[in-house]
Amino acid sequence: MLGLCATIVKLSAPAMPTNANAEAAWNYHEVTKHSYTSVRTNPHFLDFGNQPLPFKIYPALEPSRMPTEVRQTGVAALSAIAGSVPAQTNAAPDLEAVAQLLYLSAGITRQRKYSGGEIYFRAAACTGALYEVELYLVCRELANLQAGVYHFAPAEFGLRRLRAGDYRSVLVEATGGEPAIAQAPLIIVCTCTYWRNAWKYQARTYRHFGWDNGTMLANLLAVATALGLPAKVVCGFVDATVNGLLDVDSQREVAFSLVAVGHDSDLFAQTSPPAPTTPRTLAEISPLGFETVPLSRDEVDYPLMREMHAASSLDSAEEVAAWRGRTTLGSTGMPSSPPPAGPVVRLQPLSDGEMPRDPIEQVILRRGSSRQFARTPITLAQLSTLLDRATRGVPADFVVPKVVPDFVPNVVLNSQDPMGSQLNHLYLIVHAVEGLDSGAYFFHRDRGVLECLKHGNFRNQAGYLGLGQQLPADAAVGIFFLTDLRPIFDRLGNRGYRAVQLEAGILGGKLYLAAYAQRLGATGLTFYDDDVTRFFSPHAEGKSAIFLVAVGHSVKRKR
Ligand SMILES: Cc1cc2nc3c(=O)[nH]c(=O)nc-3n(C[C@H](O)[C@H](O)[C@H](O)COP(=O)(O)O)c2cc1C
Repeated sequence: MLGLCATIVKLSAPAMPTNANAEAAWNYHEVTKHSYTSVRTNPHFLDFGNQPLPFKIYPALEPSRMPTEVRQTGVAALSAIAGSVPAQTNAAPDLEAVAQLLYLSAGITRQRKYSGGEIYFRAAACTGALYEVELYLVCRELANLQAGVYHFAPAEFGLRRLRAGDYRSVLVEATGGEPAIAQAPLIIVCTCTYWRNAWKYQARTYRHFGWDNGTMLANLLAVATALGLPAKVVCGFVDATVNGLLDVDSQREVAFSLVAVGHDSDLFAQTSPPAPTTPRTLAEISPLGFETVPLSRDEVDYPLMREMHAASSLDSAEEVAAWRGRTTLGSTGMPSSPPPAGPVVRLQPLSDGEMPRDPIEQVILRRGSSRQFARTPITLAQLSTLLDRATRGVPADFVVPKVVPDFVPNVVLNSQDPMGSQLNHLYLIVHAVEGLDSGAYFFHRDRGVLECLKHGNFRNQAGYLGLGQQLPADAAVGIFFLTDLRPIFDRLGNRGYRAVQLEAGILGGKLYLAAYAQRLGATGLTFYDDDVTRFFSPHAEGKSAIFLVAVGHSVKRKR
């Protein structure tokens, strides 16, 4: 009898999944793989009558408009994506800089009418143009912006104030005292809304959270750099605390990443004048209870994603600090690749004199995913520049940081050595690159070489791998991201899955910008997971497909 009771208790109250047990991430990854058969047997269809709103609207809160003039930084996009401002540089954004950061990462840059309505395209690429990522600000008093918690409203290009006062201490608590957060005058919180993307992509949406948040962060990091602001992506935080501060309905919308922007060297000055009523912990914060407009007539729930999210959640500041500790122990244990075993071709990036100098703001406004590629070649110098500039490191808490010299004014180009670790490995299918034979390659980022895995014309295979679409068959090159998830999960647990998808989105977003800076085109693409691994095996044996970007010459179409 006692045994039966124990069983009943066990069944009715299963142990909460913990981040360290990566079974949930493995399961999510397996179940959401695309294959030729899974795509063809999926009965899902798009119910346009129930399409979610692309904006979060708080009807009771009037947004305050932000300045719409785009300040010209003049910093070349190819420098901005490859560089960063040293973390200790004392700098804080004013309202104009905040507006610029938000506009160039999540603002509406184009709109197009279609039979079903209007699409408001944003600064960064996003799967299905469904824009499930929302941005919030948590800041001290900045020039022309009061201390508070704000929601960014892209439709009005305004800010809705959710809380008045300085709440950054809640995020310091939530991140277990992450140093960049602790000294940032502004923290941008990125959340993701399940239904807005799952309407089309169903349970695979959780991968898209990382991809779409990542492309946005590629823009945000580059613009911060161009504005002379240090910035760092933070993935480790107590989920419930951040969600509670924003008072989002965490069954529907969840915080996915934080970005510390700027740096206050004087910790005492930053909090003056002290606000005696400013709460320091989540326990002291009351829920907001603001109404928001429903996204659709009804929503379909995909519990698998919420399970994945719960299993990758961190529950205490101590757990966060320990998690972060595991990311910075050095490079041992992180995925590394064996030295080249086949013929290699050295990258030959453009020289400084040849490097296109179009500023980052121009390139972001020019960007838009290629809808058709011409089968004309790009050059090895263009491809080399793209790979070199996009992979010089991401300032984030989930990778070993690169060492940046102490006293370097303004933007420093991140040096290649040491360059910080990277979770994703890049594999290429080259169709049309002058100076490089067609074939499959592995990019040895640390050596600056491409290792040829096999020669041949693989246009048909690339088209197939990219879900049977024409774009990857016609592009000049397909850049596939793969990784060995095992050491990542061993180290970072389920949350490593968030990190690897987010990093892929950031690198993919940088590749987009590096392509458009050189007047090439690019598009993100989805793929048949296991077929991608098979194509690049035996080199890629045991790795998982994470992301795909195709690059080439766009066929110009009137938008
Ligand atoms: C990760 C990712 C995957 C994408 N996958 C596809 C795809 O499989 N097919 C496609 O035609 N476009 C794809 N796109 C392009 C999006 O449809 C495009 O970004 C979106 O419509 C917004 O348009 P824009 O990039 O021109 O601003 C993808 C974009 C991203 C970021």
